[in-house]
Amino acid sequence: MALAAARARALRALSPPHPLGQVLVAARRRCSEAGAPGALPPGGYRAWQEQAARDPAGFWADLARGWLRWDSPFHTACQPGRPAGTARWFLGGRLNVSVNCLDQHVEKSPNRVALIWERDEPGTAVHVTYRELLDLTCRLANTLKKYGIQKGDKVAIYMPVSPLSVASMLACARIGAVHSVVFAGFSAESLAGRIVDSGCKAVITYNQGVRGGRIIELKRTVDEAVKNCPSIKHVFVAQRTDNKVQMGDCDIPLEEEMTKAASVCTPESMDSEDMLFMLYTSGSTGKPKGIVHTQAGYLLYAALTHKYVFDYQQGDVFGCVADIGWITGHSYVVYGPLCNGATSVLFESTPLYPDPGRYWEVVQRLKINQFYAAPTAIRLLLNYGEEWVKKYDRSSLKTLGSVGEPINKEAWQWFYQVVGEGRCTLVDTWWQTETGGICIAPRPSEEKAEIVPAMAMRPFFGIVPVLMDENGKVIEGNDVSGALCIAQPWPGMARTIYGDHQRFVDVYFRAYPGYYFTGDGAYRTKQGYYQITGRTDDVINISGHRLGTAEIEDAMADHPEVPETAVIGYPHKIKGEGAFAFVVLKEQVAHVDRVKEELKTIVASKIAKYAVPDHILVVKRLPKTRSGKIMRRLLRKVVTEQSNNMGDVTTLDDPSVVKEILDAYQKYKEKSSS
Ligand code: WT7
Repeated sequence: MALAAARARALRALSPPHPLGQVLVAARRRCSEAGAPGALPPGGYRAWQEQAARDPAGFWADLARGWLRWDSPFHTACQPGRPAGTARWFLGGRLNVSVNCLDQHVEKSPNRVALIWERDEPGTAVHVTYRELLDLTCRLANTLKKYGIQKGDKVAIYMPVSPLSVASMLACARIGAVHSVVFAGFSAESLAGRIVDSGCKAVITYNQGVRGGRIIELKRTVDEAVKNCPSIKHVFVAQRTDNKVQMGDCDIPLEEEMTKAASVCTPESMDSEDMLFMLYTSGSTGKPKGIVHTQAGYLLYAALTHKYVFDYQQGDVFGCVADIGWITGHSYVVYGPLCNGATSVLFESTPLYPDPGRYWEVVQRLKINQFYAAPTAIRLLLNYGEEWVKKYDRSSLKTLGSVGEPINKEAWQWFYQVVGEGRCTLVDTWWQTETGGICIAPRPSEEKAEIVPAMAMRPFFGIVPVLMDENGKVIEGNDVSGALCIAQPWPGMARTIYGDHQRFVDVYFRAYPGYYFTGDGAYRTKQGYYQITGRTDDVINISGHRLGTAEIEDAMADHPEVPETAVIGYPHKIKGEGAFAFVVLKEQVAHVDRVKEELKTIVASKIAKYAVPDHILVVKRLPKTRSGKIMRRLLRKVVTEQSNNMGDVTTLDDPSVVKEILDAYQKYKEKSSS
């Protein structure tokens, strides 16, 4: 009932239907002609949105036929799964993702540029055509095969962005292996944990990485990680720098092997629902979970959102500056753009290297048309002033995008007015690792429809957002807030958590049966637009990187002198959120500062540098309920200085703890500001 009501509400918000048959037939014709889709027909948004909500299977079936190249057609577009709210897509269909991303474009325009690798060293960009990328991919695929990697095997990729990293992902796709890209900023222990969880047979890495003029010892980290990974048979090592690194028995020089390998590799014909990749992300409890995406549905959803959210036109240069270690890099550096035959920029550097003009210098030099970045970078750059932007010609820019965390109004305005000169479309895009692609964004929309600053606003085709109240009931009407759920499945959604389907069901489909629960809260405005209000669980977002506070707590628990900790997120001017740790020390610990430094080292080495708390405050005890649960809500109030409004503290075991912590916090603040 609630689902029907939600659908009806979504439909009511739309204008009278359009002749959909025509819209879709036209779309299909366009995709097959160009190998890449054309523009959305006028009035198309509402029409498409309506059909996608009313008849998801029919809607996506038409698009899947037109958009993707199939080895054999699917017989069932959508098969609802159990629990309700899940589904499998394009059953019976067979295809190869690398063929869709490479071969089909090579046939028509082999010399079109697929990738522009903007290396760390300014002005040394490398252009790679579709033909060249196919060549690299096939050689890499043959190399993997030579060393025993087969369909279904898991391969870890521990590399920053580069053409070889993209070729590594596509090579896995070509032979039906499953990639697990691990962000190259993660520690050896994090890498090892992911390798063990997924049972990877091989790692692909670089000897070293280069970022912001600094060398990163990637191979050394891999060596340390694989010591504890019995499943690893081989480590493929590519060369990013000329420096020699020690090569052991199972290490294979990648480029050397690729030169010897054949440049043709027959693609494996994959079932639509075979696994394409897994990507680890943090939850509110436990260790990071391997989110699983499959072949056809994921690719279709990434490609369509890339096309319509950014209004990508053939010939445009698409600049998403995310790392491939995150879902943004998977969907909008690699799979979406390449499926659409786009030219995709690989940005290896940082926004400040060699100076705060780097992004805009790159925009000018590469003539970037769509620029997609994280709010944290925008907030960082706006502190350096407009001169750094205005120095460079940004007239190529048409669409700007923001992703990964809430964008505050000031950053939005600066991005829009200063970077985009008030003439570019700026889309705040909301989505998650689990959703595969963008779910809520101001575009697509009716032509020239309004964009409210710092708001994600409109659901993409087939996304039916609903808000839930505390009793698990759908909240109707506008000007209301609740837990954000999605009422019906879409092709890009994750299928499971690797090795733990029960956890998948529990985390996403248990709180609101029949609905996908996002973990975020949202507000539906008077006009019916969606504004994301932030996580409702213990997940925090540091510089657009998702992290469970429990992970930081677990890491710190390793310190022998620290029996208890509680970590919370607090608002941080640049990073969006930072981690604030409250720690209890064993009695008579004399070297408090030493312990704090050790805690920081532990977090960096067990997780990653970005996870290290900005603040560590020693307290005598933590606020707990009578049943022993830590009341993090109170700690949040202390740190955001809302202690005059503590809310209900009657469940506290000993309410005097509040004053104790407040005093400790005051002292800490005075000390750090002096
Ligand atoms: C979480 C997902 C989106 C891909 C990269 C991050 C937060 C994401 C927005 C936005 C406000 C946002 C949410 C979400 N988030 N985009 N536009 N406005 N919050 O993917 O690492 O899986 O993180 O990032 O809290 O749940 P992720």
